[in-house]
Amino acid sequence: MTTPIIECRNLQKWYSGVHALKNVDLKIHPGETVGLVGDNGAGKSTLIKILSGVHHQDSGDVLIEGRKVALRSPKEAMRHGLETMRHGLETIYQYNSMVPTMSIARNLFIGREPMKWSVFGVGIMDQKRMRAESIQAIADVDLHLRSPDALVGELSGGQRQGVAIARAMHFKSKVLILDEPTNHLSVKETDKVIGFVRGLKAQGLTGIFISHNMQHVFQSCDRIVAMARGEIVFDKPTAETSIDEVHALL
Ligand SMILES: Nc1ncnc2c1ncn2[C@@H]1O[C@H](COP(=O)(O)OP(=O)(O)OP(=O)(O)O)[C@@H](O)[C@H]1O
Ligand SMILES: [Mg+2]
Repeated sequence: MTTPIIECRNLQKWYSGVHALKNVDLKIHPGETVGLVGDNGAGKSTLIKILSGVHHQDSGDVLIEGRKVALRSPKEAMRHGLETMRHGLETIYQYNSMVPTMSIARNLFIGREPMKWSVFGVGIMDQKRMRAESIQAIADVDLHLRSPDALVGELSGGQRQGVAIARAMHFKSKVLILDEPTNHLSVKETDKVIGFVRGLKAQGLTGIFISHNMQHVFQSCDRIVAMARGEIVFDKPTAETSIDEVHALL
């Protein structure tokens, strides 16, 4: 058996009186695409927020490639190769380090800006390289955008997902975590995001895909994990289960 790329051991999380995660144990192996499902308030986003360094568990451990890690901030999670893209009711920008008032190129390189020396011997951002590389990164995920200079705040939801995915691919993130990425998207944009998720495997990436849409999850994931009231209540390969079986549980 290979070492899991992510392992959660006995994670517990309380929000004052709410026991949001109860003894969560989960292993995700390299190259797997896991669909995380469950009713509202089941604890899915809480689990993902812990893995993306936004929240911290009250107890239990997170291991990345077999080593215990302390994910103290989103930046630290990114440094460990975990790229998170969230959508839905919460502000999309807050936790995934996308800045709406900055260009696509700047957003692609956030926290990893290439530097060069100016004539005065001062380190400055290499704008030309960021622009060129972002054109390539965007083309690599087959995203059609007018210009890398456009502001992220002017993009549609689906295009923003595309930029996040391009960033994950470009920097060879190990794990791409998408929390309800198809919320508020058009049918066409949704198809595109589903296509990205299905394509993760071919790129050697591991994915966690949270959605309320069972069809989407079953179409794009090779394992289904369901949560209810803070616990993992179901975990099976997609090929060995059905939408009906999962629905009956939730
Ligand atoms: N910041 C917070 N403060 C207090 N309680 C919270 C907070 N975030 C989540 N909770 C509570 O923790 C529980 C789990 O919430 P979580 O957001 O993880 O659910 P979810 O599975 O993502 O649900 P949904 O499908 O609706 O997004 C819920 O009871 C929720 O009300
Ligand atoms: Mg949620």
